[in-house]
Amino acid sequence: MTSSPAIQLDGVHKSYGGGGAVLRGIDLEIDEGELVTIVGPSGCGKSTLLSLIAGFERPTRGHVRLHGEIVDDKSPRERRLAMVFQSYALYPHLDVFENIAFPLRIAKLPAAEVKARVEETAARLGLSALQRRRPAQLSGGQRQRVALARALVRRPSICLFDEPLSNLDAKLRVQMRAEIAKLHQELGSTFVYVTHDQSEAMTLSDRIVVLDAGAIAQAGPPMEIYERPLSTFVASFLGSPGMNLVAPEALGLEGTSVSVTVGVRPEDLRVTREPSPGSLPARVYVVEPVGSETWVTCERASCRLVGRAEARFDARSGDTVHLRFEANRLHRFDRATGARTGEPLESLAPAGD
Ligand SMILES: Nc1ncnc2c1ncn2[C@@H]1O[C@H](COP(=O)(O)OP(=O)(O)O)[C@@H](O)[C@H]1O
Ligand SMILES: [Mg+2]
Repeated sequence: MTSSPAIQLDGVHKSYGGGGAVLRGIDLEIDEGELVTIVGPSGCGKSTLLSLIAGFERPTRGHVRLHGEIVDDKSPRERRLAMVFQSYALYPHLDVFENIAFPLRIAKLPAAEVKARVEETAARLGLSALQRRRPAQLSGGQRQRVALARALVRRPSICLFDEPLSNLDAKLRVQMRAEIAKLHQELGSTFVYVTHDQSEAMTLSDRIVVLDAGAIAQAGPPMEIYERPLSTFVASFLGSPGMNLVAPEALGLEGTSVSVTVGVRPEDLRVTREPSPGSLPARVYVVEPVGSETWVTCERASCRLVGRAEARFDARSGDTVHLRFEANRLHRFDRATGARTGEPLESLAPAGD
């Protein structure tokens, strides 16, 4: 028995030709059975990171280990990982059964075992009734399921996903991500899931790794990152609507040094029609009802702030509303570097106007 992490990156750098570094010193351990999402804006190096784990690329410096063993010289096939991409190329002339069976046929498994495994995997992914159809006779969501089944049928201990749901419509995406979470629970394999979609990362992960321009900005459980982002970059990347990042004056805070940016999440900023003790007046810029609640963008001290009001909140652009927040829900960042600077501003009470 070994207690090595399933995946380990030690000081991994990657640059291409004369270009600058795409990955800059990645240190990361992913435990057996974890579901880790790699999240970050387009171009930050997510796919490159996955390719290094899969073996399609080699690190310029540093090492990749799988189950404790350095695999820098091993081909993707030798690493025996499964990978699911955004553009999943199914074989158009093969039916669903044969598409799923393909990796097992390559591995020369006995026909009876191929049949048993394909049927089990197809059932798991809700494809049992579709086994004789060809890809052209399937919807986008069904094709994506076939691609997942084809990856999982080999029972890989590590599964890599690169934005596998990006081509699906919003509703199907939400449905499929729940199924991926369930598959992960059932299979107990290690999943590394790349996405630019913060809501996918929040809902799926045991742990989120936020990448910023080729470096890890923060790694941890979703709620830990959400509640204690270490930088304005992370603070504004996770959460929708995003965290308000404003000058202290916008929240009526005094006694704060001018070099601070204050953050407050929209759900922690209550918007009401009537003032209450300690509330701050603001002017409504735009009102966005989303059914269960209403997001209200307000202007105050030359800053825009999004706050939460009740469902069916009745206000129009230009109206005066009132903002309230708990001081312990505030975040404080260094204005110049964006780095978190100390704990929530509990000592600071709103000064009022
Ligand atoms: N084969 C390559 N040659 C040169 N540059 C590359 C190559 N692959 C990726 N890059 C560059 O590396 C950066 C990160 O790319 P990528 O990992 O695909 O980002 P992401 O998946 O986060 O959108 C981008 O600036 C991209 O242009
Ligand atoms: Mg990518």
